Amino acid sequence: MQNRRVAFLGIDIGTTAVKAVLVDIEGKIFAECDIEQTVLRSNIIWVEQDPVMWWENTLTAISKVVKLAQNSKYQIEVIGIGLTGQMHSSVLLDEKFEIVRPAILWSDGRTTPQCQEISEKIGLQRLKRSLGNRPVEGLTAPKLLWLKQNEPRNFERLKTLLLPKDYVRYRMTGIVVTDHSDASATLLYDIYRKSWSADVLDILELPHSILPDIIESVESAGTLQENVADMCGLQKGIPVICGGADNPVGAVASGVFQQGLIQSSIGTSGTLLMPTDTLNVDKELNLHNFVHCKEDWWYQMGVILSAGDSLKWLRNILYGEKSKTSYDSMIKEAESILPGSDGLIFLPHLVGERTPHNDSNARGVFIGLHAQHTRAHLVRAVMEGVCFALRDSLEIAKEQKHPFTEIRAVGSGSLSKLWRQIQADVFNLPVTVVNQFAGPAYGAAILAAVGQKSFSSINEVVELWTNFETSSEPNSEDVSDYDKYYSVYRNIYPSVKSSFQEINSLTN
Ligand code: XUL
Repeated sequence: MQNRRVAFLGIDIGTTAVKAVLVDIEGKIFAECDIEQTVLRSNIIWVEQDPVMWWENTLTAISKVVKLAQNSKYQIEVIGIGLTGQMHSSVLLDEKFEIVRPAILWSDGRTTPQCQEISEKIGLQRLKRSLGNRPVEGLTAPKLLWLKQNEPRNFERLKTLLLPKDYVRYRMTGIVVTDHSDASATLLYDIYRKSWSADVLDILELPHSILPDIIESVESAGTLQENVADMCGLQKGIPVICGGADNPVGAVASGVFQQGLIQSSIGTSGTLLMPTDTLNVDKELNLHNFVHCKEDWWYQMGVILSAGDSLKWLRNILYGEKSKTSYDSMIKEAESILPGSDGLIFLPHLVGERTPHNDSNARGVFIGLHAQHTRAHLVRAVMEGVCFALRDSLEIAKEQKHPFTEIRAVGSGSLSKLWRQIQADVFNLPVTVVNQFAGPAYGAAILAAVGQKSFSSINEVVELWTNFETSSEPNSEDVSDYDKYYSVYRNIYPSVKSSFQEINSLTN
């Protein structure tokens, strides 16, 4: 007879994979599973995915973790499910809740004209006073304008707008809602009043009726429907907790909800997330200002579009997409190269860039190549370039005089000791890692545990479940070398910006 153990299921609808993780009441991971997925790219800046693929991959991921758990010595009973996923990606549904067209993802750069239109119509002052964010290509509102102007028939069919995790939750429960963290990242939400912005919807002539109700990340959004439960080996009626956007849910898992802490995530994208309990937007709105999953907290965030993706691109072109060469062996070679990659600097803007340039024309650059550079230099320069690009966000945040004390490194990039050390040296801050690497999916399990009422607060669970250890301290000599390289890095984009435009007019 197996011992009965209760568990929480966390699900992350990522870009490169759907991840499911089963966590016990003490925070131990029973089982986890990643189902890889692809993106549809019809050109460099158009990036789409089919929400039905997310749903099918979610069912597979859940079935797999349930099976893995059945093989353990315990009889596992899932008592709460939590969800998270990529931010801003638009799920467009018709009156029958069928998909109108593929979702346009967070990294898509097609909406530059719509961003300009929004800036002109709303103006910087109103953007600051209500939305707290400036229009950038990946956010949701410009995509709705793009749809209206370019696919009017699809726009007419649009009756409900959801974010990725909300669509998956709708398929699980039949209930349509979103949470504040995802809503606040659509550019249709007033971050001060914590509600949809009726003014902005009116100015942009977008229907209010397409927007779902908003609830807290730890509120129950419904229960698992019988047919879904049967498909993946769970009991019907399990509470499905609302959850939130992947960056703040990741920050729940890494305990980043205190002023002074920074979550640095190197996954497909790269983000620096800085929590705050007082809204204080930067002058030019160069950082995002969004709502955290922890009540009464917000966060500022800078985002680069190709972080882990830059290293993936380099691996694919050096070794071929199907090569078995692992990231570990590539990075091992780069360890022997000195900080600064012997004068080689990389700008990671492979698909355009968000923070701080907001430029869909920007492209990647290697500068300083010479005859003695090797493959290892290229790898190290890419890792360094990603950290320089993230440092741009840190510099903007520092202008607001926030003192920062610690970086919590998450995402696949945090698995590399070398990349953690480069972060410590480029940011000049100690880097800590979290005892479990399941990231946002683990954060979603934490929200499920609070929402299901097994615990009274997010703090309580994080204190019980999570440990942090310092992994890398800044090394003063390398900090000073990187400072010099970073000043060179900062000057490169302004000096090649007009060439990006010229190149794009030649290639388009
Ligand atoms: C954040 C962003 C990305 C996605 C990745 O603004 O666009 O980090 O959330 O899933």
